[in-house]
Amino acid sequence: MNKNVVLSGVQPTGDLHLGNYLGAIKNFAVMQNENDSLFCVVDLHAITVFQDPKELRNNTYEVIAAYLACGINHQKSTIFNQSQVSGHAELAWILNCICRMGWLNRMTQFKEKSGKNSENVSSGLFTYPTLMAADILLYKATHVPVGSDQKQHLELTRDIAQKFNNDYNSPNFFPLPEPFIEKEISRVMSLRDGNSKMSKSDVSEYSRINLKDDADTILKKIKKSKTADTNMPASMEEINLMPEVNNLLNIFSGVTDKTKNELIMYYEGQNFSNFKKDLSDALIEKITPIGNEIKKLMSDRDNLNQIMAEGVAKARIKSEIVLNEIYDIVGFVKQ
Ligand code: TYM
Repeated sequence: MNKNVVLSGVQPTGDLHLGNYLGAIKNFAVMQNENDSLFCVVDLHAITVFQDPKELRNNTYEVIAAYLACGINHQKSTIFNQSQVSGHAELAWILNCICRMGWLNRMTQFKEKSGKNSENVSSGLFTYPTLMAADILLYKATHVPVGSDQKQHLELTRDIAQKFNNDYNSPNFFPLPEPFIEKEISRVMSLRDGNSKMSKSDVSEYSRINLKDDADTILKKIKKSKTADTNMPASMEEINLMPEVNNLLNIFSGVTDKTKNELIMYYEGQNFSNFKKDLSDALIEKITPIGNEIKKLMSDRDNLNQIMAEGVAKARIKSEIVLNEIYDIVGFVKQ
């Protein structure tokens, strides 16, 4: 019987936030129990936009620490950084030769990130999705837990896998990976604007909750978060017209075991101050232990180095088996 293989990655480009946690990392810890799982820090992706080398190194350790603090167990899962496993870059080249320009031209994330500046961004930013496909296909991963902003990249990965299998007459060589996207919290929105995504690059610190925020900061950010001029409505129809309120409800539900409906029933007709107080408490209970654990883990580099080295060794073994098969299929001579 074929076992499921789960793979996902996070960029080491700054403080991780609630969107990264609820949209992706929280699910990693659950999925590792039933599946062969790999979680990487995608440093090769990070440099598609210039990164200060010192910060990149520090952020790489910090994502490893966040993985551990969020409950990923390095004995169950393979935790590593992408650049240390050369197969990612090698396979990315092969997949660049499979992927069509037209497919990459359709990627909305590239359009968003390059904006009016598309002539002047790195070519790595343009071909970034083929590297992401390589991350996934290098381990023949079957399931990929991500936020909804990565859905289109997953669809592209499936197209690339399918075309490789067809071009090289190797049916089913690459499985077609399934995205695992949690409906309600797959797109955590900014606390200041319910129509834009919570993101590391937002200039306002008040737009996001970082995993390392302390209780006071969380309290302040939720207090300042945008809601509505009315009281909490009673129906989903009305809430759907209030993106900021809807977002806070999704977050509340995401960090507790309460459903959105339960929360609406409880707070309907009240103004938002109680709701915000309770939401802050729930966030503080969930997030501050993670932040404290990240800080603790970051103070012991030797331990993090040891964990990464073990992960890299496991990932190299797994990836070399698949890469050898691929080189064979493509027709590269091996001695
Ligand atoms: P990255 O580093 O931007 O984000 C890491 C993960 O967090 C999710 N995420 C969100 N989810 C919900 N709401 C938000 N506001 C939010 N912001 C971020 C992302 O969807 C992602 O799952 N290309 C990927 C990294 C990557 C990867 C891979 C993922 C590289 N190779 C292979 C899966 C498999 C990225 O830039 O994620």
